[in-house]
Amino acid sequence: MATVLVTGSSSGFGELTVKTVAAAGHRVFATMRHVHERNADAARRLSTWSRENGHDLSIVDMDVTDEESVQKAVQRAESRAGSIDVVVNNAGASAAGPLEAFSISQMAALLDLNVLGPMRVNKAVLPAMRARRSGLIIWITSTLGRVLPGRGGLYPATKWAAEGFAESLHYQVAPFGIDLVILEPGSFPTPAISKSMPAEDRQVVAEYAEATPPADRVQPAPDYQPPNPQEIADAVLRLLEMPAGHRPLRHVVGPVFTDGVAEYNATYERVRANLEASLRRPDQAITWGRR
Ligand SMILES: NC(=O)c1ccc[n+]([C@@H]2O[C@H](COP(=O)([O-])OP(=O)(O)OC[C@H]3O[C@@H](n4cnc5c(N)ncnc54)[C@H](OP(=O)(O)O)[C@@H]3O)[C@@H](O)[C@H]2O)c1
Repeated sequence: MATVLVTGSSSGFGELTVKTVAAAGHRVFATMRHVHERNADAARRLSTWSRENGHDLSIVDMDVTDEESVQKAVQRAESRAGSIDVVVNNAGASAAGPLEAFSISQMAALLDLNVLGPMRVNKAVLPAMRARRSGLIIWITSTLGRVLPGRGGLYPATKWAAEGFAESLHYQVAPFGIDLVILEPGSFPTPAISKSMPAEDRQVVAEYAEATPPADRVQPAPDYQPPNPQEIADAVLRLLEMPAGHRPLRHVVGPVFTDGVAEYNATYERVRANLEASLRRPDQAITWGRR
């Protein structure tokens, strides 16, 4: 049995993940922000569900953009459980509109949530994981964190940044026996769309809309089945139950908006390995700052 802490458990992938992992017999700290205000109903729902089903699930208040809140939540979980074995960095949000129409403070806020949020949580759990020489950290990014279809945007840009942080951390914590996996969902119907942050400058939004031909809208095929977000919760459980040291760096999940991304990741791995090898070749010696 592992002790698992999940961020953003009030809805979507987070809510499904905490239920799936708890139902599999693990001890779960389901964290969410504002448990007594905006997420009071979600917290009550989860508590009732776990009580009725006899699972080991505790709701803990955690706003991933607030350092003190993260520290307190991790301390609370560590003192209750002794240690945290697995962290799922799930909390995040999307945004809609052309980059120019977002204020810099909107951009900073989304980067803070999608990139620095997971880093805050990771910094809080890593000292104990390094001391124990074990642990698993899962970053939920997106296939949009690898490929920019259409016109790109603020949300994908934050997920690209998240990929860079997560992959760097993957290499850096591996010598301590800690696995870090980047889980890349395709597109799934969750409440995320309704919580998307609109660009502030409506005039600029209108000017871009006027200048840009609308994207072709296709109707779903008659037999189209929307993907089931439960796939992400199941993937988290599978990763958790894999033997330590044998987990992949990246894992793409879902039938929609995932075409070719696993292949792209495999190509990336090859390019990366070649580049690493090239560093040991005399004709490729890096001589920055030297003549
Ligand atoms: N759905 C997709 O197609 C898709 C695809 C790829 C990746 N993802 C990623 O998957 C993750 C989960 O998204 P979802 O689709 O399940 O949408 P969701 O239902 O909106 O879940 C997002 C969760 O993050 C929480 N959150 C937001 N700001 C927070 C903060 N400051 N501190 C703590 N929690 C916060 C939300 O809580 P509140 O209710 O309090 O805002 C919510 O519980 C996100 O990182 C998202 O980018 C989603």
